[in-house]
Amino acid sequence: MIIAPSLLAADFGHVAREARRVDRSGADWLHLDIMDGHFVPNISFGPAVVAAIRPLLKIFFDVHLMCSRPQILLEPFANAGAGQMNIHVELGEQVTPLLWKIKSLGKKVGLAINPPTAIGLVQPYLDQIDTLLIMTVNPGFGGQEFIHETLPKIQQAAAWRREKGLSYHITVGGGVDFKTAAECAHAGADTFVSGTAIFHQRDMKSAVKRMRKIVDRSGPQALSTS
Ligand code: DX5
Repeated sequence: MIIAPSLLAADFGHVAREARRVDRSGADWLHLDIMDGHFVPNISFGPAVVAAIRPLLKIFFDVHLMCSRPQILLEPFANAGAGQMNIHVELGEQVTPLLWKIKSLGKKVGLAINPPTAIGLVQPYLDQIDTLLIMTVNPGFGGQEFIHETLPKIQQAAAWRREKGLSYHITVGGGVDFKTAAECAHAGADTFVSGTAIFHQRDMKSAVKRMRKIVDRSGPQALSTS
């Protein structure tokens, strides 16, 4: 199971210190929410911030591009230190060339899907991706409430992975706290993006440990052996 704190919930007055906190917390990935003020009604941060914290940390950078024109951003984020880049399936015809471009940059490939979007839309791409990011809130802001209607999409993604013999990560992001993380793990998720629930804890190491324990015992594999 992968725990990925989202930097969007950090104290932006101390970004480097907050990023180092994640690096020391035992988390597996640092999730970086990139918002362009067009695909989503908010603007977060760009490649310059990512490049500034890259040399300070060891952790893997998981970049989520909530952007209408990610093609102009792939190389800057690749150069800034992204390990994986997630683009949205709602971009339609742009998706295939974008996935190829990310691969050609030597990076891991993620495909994200918004709550209102039918899960069937991702099916043609499942054998081309390393990660499927199922948004569990409408993207654009941290601290929102988890949308429980997204749980069947996680189950479907897990079923396809099993049936097709694939190994993509199933990531969930938005409103993932200690309770909803268990529900997501039970549905088949294995990667947990969490902003508020992890960053707003004084002791981030304990928070990561607690979330890992919860998802480890809630996943299908744990239930089948218990
Ligand atoms: C929302 C982002 C999420 C969000 C997670 O658009 O994609 O990654 O920052 O933060 P919380 O856990 O606070 O919802």
